[in-house]
This record gives sequence, structure tokens and C-alpha cells, in this order.
Amino acid sequence: MKAKVDQSLCIGCGLCVTTCPDVFRMNDDGVAEAFQEYSTDLVDSVNEAIDGCPVGAISTEA
Ligand code: F3S
Repeated sequence: MKAKVDQSLCIGCGLCVTTCPDVFRMNDDGVAEAFQEYSTDLVDSVNEAIDGCPVGAISTEA
């Protein structure tokens, strides 16, 4: 599975990186990116990041 960060919305709060560092990281522009696909064991963690993002910038792709 794959997550996606809308970088035009991300304000760089870093919460997703703290919540789920196996999927999200900050890039050089100070916004988050999903840098690798994830397996089912990380679904809860990714969902927590999605719910926690203050601007709703994270979504998932099939
Ligand atoms: Fe950005 Fe939301 Fe993560 S604002 S740093 S995508 S929690």
C-alpha cells in the first residue's frame, strides 16, 4: 500500500513523521513525503498519521 502527502497542504508540523517514521519523512523543502510503500502491519500507524494531520494532507492510494 502507498500513502501520499499533498505537499501543497502540508505545513511541516512533523506529526506524521513522529507517528509513523517507517513511511513518512521530511524532505529538504520542510514538508513531509511518503518515501516507501507499507504493509498491513503499518496500516494502524498510517491511519493514525492521517487522522492526526492538522491539515488533512495525507491520503492513501491503492
Ligand atoms: Fe505535514 Fe500533516 Fe505530516 S502537516 S508533516 S503531512 S502531519
